[in-house]
Amino acid sequence: MNKLLKAYDGKVRMMNNNKIKIEKFFKLLDVPNYETLKNLSKETGIPTSRLRYYNDNMILPMGEDMDRLCAYTGYSKELIEISLGHISPEVQSWIINHGEDILKEIAVPDLKVSEVSPVFNTPFGTLFHDDCVKVLVSMPDESVDMVFADPPFNLNKDYGDSIDDDMTKSKYINWCEVWIKECARVLKPGGAFYIYNLPYWNTFLSNILNKYMNFRHWIAVSMKGLIPVQGKLQPEHYGLLYYIKGEKPRVFNKQRIPLVTCRHCGGEIRDYGGKKSSLNPEGISISDIFMDINPVRHKKYKNRSANELPLRLLHRLISLSTDAGDIVLDPFGGAGTTYVAAEFLERNWIGMEIGDTDIIIERLEKNERDRELLLKIEKDSNLLFTEEQVRLRQKNNFWTYEKLRD
Ligand SMILES: C[S@@+](CC[C@H](N)C(=O)[O-])C[C@H]1O[C@@H](n2cnc3c(N)ncnc32)[C@H](O)[C@@H]1O
Repeated sequence: MNKLLKAYDGKVRMMNNNKIKIEKFFKLLDVPNYETLKNLSKETGIPTSRLRYYNDNMILPMGEDMDRLCAYTGYSKELIEISLGHISPEVQSWIINHGEDILKEIAVPDLKVSEVSPVFNTPFGTLFHDDCVKVLVSMPDESVDMVFADPPFNLNKDYGDSIDDDMTKSKYINWCEVWIKECARVLKPGGAFYIYNLPYWNTFLSNILNKYMNFRHWIAVSMKGLIPVQGKLQPEHYGLLYYIKGEKPRVFNKQRIPLVTCRHCGGEIRDYGGKKSSLNPEGISISDIFMDINPVRHKKYKNRSANELPLRLLHRLISLSTDAGDIVLDPFGGAGTTYVAAEFLERNWIGMEIGDTDIIIERLEKNERDRELLLKIEKDSNLLFTEEQVRLRQKNNFWTYEKLRD
């Protein structure tokens, strides 16, 4: 049976309902195909849709379903839990106490260091046309000041033959753990680590990051125009995880932005509290909700068909967490937005892209449009209202900072 599926990215795909993904759950229950799944459903009385839900989302069955699975497999509840990778606090403390014995039994694979050479250099940066993990393992410990990563979201997008964007959930999370661990290793103490992803994946990536670093913020990057998903709240943000290696950030350059106003009338959209006259003329401090990051939609500024982040976001994060001369690492180059922003801000950068790197190289070589945009971003930072806002507000008789002071 085929079903039309609308994904988070808005794409509609035909899904073959008889095709199944094999996660730990189906491996344990010996379900290699749809026929055996139907059989399992008949034997246990658990509907196929619910069995798929447990498998695809790596969710642990509970209550009656767990009892039925125990009866069917002959395993205890605890054994099923461990086989599905759910480690209870008791099992965890046993592992902690038996580290040496465990390592005698299993060989932990070592990531191989191989020779990598850059495809492009500028006075500020180095770009590798390669798998980021291959490049990362060749880098020395504690050698970069900031990491920004915007990986593929595993939404079955077409990134070319070298990328599987339709992994099983556990494969995607395991892959993320590999590059996150390497990025954390090459980050200097006090360095900032940002990961941009869907809120769903960020709940899992946080678990990985928490092992190596210190949580600072979950930043909600407000995003309009996301496609509604039936039975869910309207999605309105992407998640930006912000972690620090060690206790404190080495650099924290506070950023200020103009008040958010209606683009039609110029009136404030939010109530910032307090007296207007005590507002800082240099703008409001950025919070953990970014309301002013608009997707790159204008053809003039677009360098690829999708997944290109706005320069404003990278300009803000690099300014916040690094100083001129520092090194910014982005393992997922895409259209090179991070590298363009880093060059403009006179930061060094290290980039990697497994797919096409021509877009990045061309963009760095012909950077007039990006510079124009970045100059405007700088001009519109650290003030309460931009020139356009002042004009609109004066026209519609809203207060301006100058008026308040008169
Ligand atoms: C979401 S896009 C990044 C977009 C980028 N932030 C920008 O603003 O242009 C993710 C990119 O990661 C690349 N990629 C995927 N797997 C990779 C890997 N293992 N190593 C390096 N790049 C990879 C993809 O080809 C894609 O261009």
